[in-house]
Amino acid sequence: MNITRTKRTMKTIRLTVGCLLAALLAGACGHDAPSGPGIIPVPQSVEWGKGHFEMPDTLLYGDNLPASEHDDLAAWCRTSPLPLREAQSDEYAPLQLQRTGEGPAEGYRLEVSPAGVEITASDAAGLFYGLQSLCQLAEHYGGCIPAVRIDDAPRFGYRGYMLDVSRHFRDAEFVKSQLDLMARYKLNRFHWHLTDGAGWRIEIRRYPELTDFAAWRPEATWSAWTANGKRYCHRDDPAAQGGYYTQEEIREVVEYARQRHITVIPEIEMPGHSEEVTSTYPGLSCSGRPYVDADLCIGNEQTFAFVEGVLEEVMELFPSEYIHIGGDEATKRSWPDCPKSRERMRREGLAGVDELQSYMIHRVEQFLNARGRRLLGWDEILQGGLAPNATVMSWRGVSGGIEAARAGHDAIMSPSDYCYLDYCQDDPRKMVEAPFAFLPLERVYGYDPAPDSLGAEVTERILGVQGNLWCEHVPTARDAEEHAWPRLLAVAEVGWSAPERKDFADFRTRALEAVAWMQRRGHTPFDLEHEVGPRPESLTPCRSLSTGCPVAYDPPCSEKYRAAGDGSLTDGLRGGWNYADGRWQGWLDTDVAVTVDLGRVRPEKRLAADFMQNYFADILLPESVEFSVSDDGEEFRLLGSVAAPVAPDALSGYYETYAWEGDASCRYVRLRAKHNGRPGKWIFTDEVVVE
Ligand code: ACM
Repeated sequence: MNITRTKRTMKTIRLTVGCLLAALLAGACGHDAPSGPGIIPVPQSVEWGKGHFEMPDTLLYGDNLPASEHDDLAAWCRTSPLPLREAQSDEYAPLQLQRTGEGPAEGYRLEVSPAGVEITASDAAGLFYGLQSLCQLAEHYGGCIPAVRIDDAPRFGYRGYMLDVSRHFRDAEFVKSQLDLMARYKLNRFHWHLTDGAGWRIEIRRYPELTDFAAWRPEATWSAWTANGKRYCHRDDPAAQGGYYTQEEIREVVEYARQRHITVIPEIEMPGHSEEVTSTYPGLSCSGRPYVDADLCIGNEQTFAFVEGVLEEVMELFPSEYIHIGGDEATKRSWPDCPKSRERMRREGLAGVDELQSYMIHRVEQFLNARGRRLLGWDEILQGGLAPNATVMSWRGVSGGIEAARAGHDAIMSPSDYCYLDYCQDDPRKMVEAPFAFLPLERVYGYDPAPDSLGAEVTERILGVQGNLWCEHVPTARDAEEHAWPRLLAVAEVGWSAPERKDFADFRTRALEAVAWMQRRGHTPFDLEHEVGPRPESLTPCRSLSTGCPVAYDPPCSEKYRAAGDGSLTDGLRGGWNYADGRWQGWLDTDVAVTVDLGRVRPEKRLAADFMQNYFADILLPESVEFSVSDDGEEFRLLGSVAAPVAPDALSGYYETYAWEGDASCRYVRLRAKHNGRPGKWIFTDEVVVE
């Protein structure tokens, strides 16, 4: 520690005098027994003491940090939500920050007494996190903080937030605003998805065309760009939309993050998701033509010259040990017939396209390792053989991460069904564009990246967890915050807190407080207070004349979406928001007739069924539904027909009831849903109701 003995002694004397003064003042504010410290993520241990510390208008602090860490802390304190100021040498500092060099990485002890506050930590990150907890405590208790001792440390060293800025560009100010929120909630890795088919977002001096051309497109939204054939345009085109970060901006963001103990991990996608590269430099694709291939040509040495040239500049900008190289979802379509790729496979003895992809990942890993960096990639980098030192980011469920860990590699967990922040977090009908799945706060919170059941050999290799905000359906900064928060609070608690400290009801209360705090500061998190929650119809069983009756299908539903089988449409259980929740049945590319046998002739006043539309899941409402009835199951009489209430191109989420009402009497009820004729589209329904 760079602190002179004299300075320390002076501070101790001042602290003692200050303690006496503060102790005299203690009791000026008061609470009943505190319910909890209101901190996200919930700390490891909290012990309440006696009395309170009353926050002054400005809280003076002193620290024993070495000069550079002291300056970083001072820079943050000047922007802190708490009114903090460094004490001059003749001023008493009720807040003491002491770096002890002992204890767990990033951990801290925060002691609040009527006399003042002391934060001790082994490293600067720990002190910083102690301060974040202090800020939340002070806000939670309105500036009158109960005496408490908090001992805290993270469960995982990797607690990440991935932001996709390719599909919709977000400016550097927005990124900094996200870094501020991350720091507050102790997230420490910002994974910046800088390149993808919808736009290249990082200035590379060697390849200026990437940001003169591939960073721009004539349409503002990804949906419109996709509908219009995915074309780029020159930056000077009057219609140009998009943007990129200059190298200067990148350096600024990286530094801003560093001061907040966040490492920025850049992602440069390869060999797939590279349409913007192959359209700018068609020679790097197998066809040699723009707008044809999404994948880079691995047979071509120029591809490696390009990738290495880009990565050299990337490494100059980002000190992060990890460089993320994507690796996901290559189509591999152009490789089998490409002479250069075939020649590469022949020469290297590669058995197929997976091994060809793996050849590229191995080679890029060697390039990175030789420069002191480590390769991180999505779990497809396992295909064809994992590069020897690679770390896997598991997104297609958890199996890729587990497989990598079993093989002795590090893994980061971000399975889509818990960590994809682009999925709807509430009623999809409220969304302008409803992505295809549903992921509420509670489910994110329920995730455990490293359950004991995996065994120590695996869990030791799991570095942590990450929430991913893909932005195809997230056109504005406002939307991005609404998707990210408060679900990232859940990711933060999953990543930091011990499983036995977690409690969703308690977390939700704290999250509501955090959302209100963000809203007061101009952020636009999802309005948790007005959450609809699960689809109301799915919460209570519905009973009608059809309940429990047999159903005949023409044709049978898809094997993939059978729900509970043939009885599903009359089991009284309605589906939730998610088409894959095991209650909805689905049919692909066909009209559908379902016939319910009520057992005997009965009077009916209403026949109904719900259908859903989710454009991005290729599920459309039926063009129409006909209702007909029969006494013998042979001859059917048409009662009426209902047309789709919504256009097939409507992008929100829809759950529409098609119903006939009147007076009828019959044993058999038939609903015939007409497919709207677009290939590759599904019809989904959950229950036939007869009343
Ligand atoms: C991914 O979602 N394709 C990583």
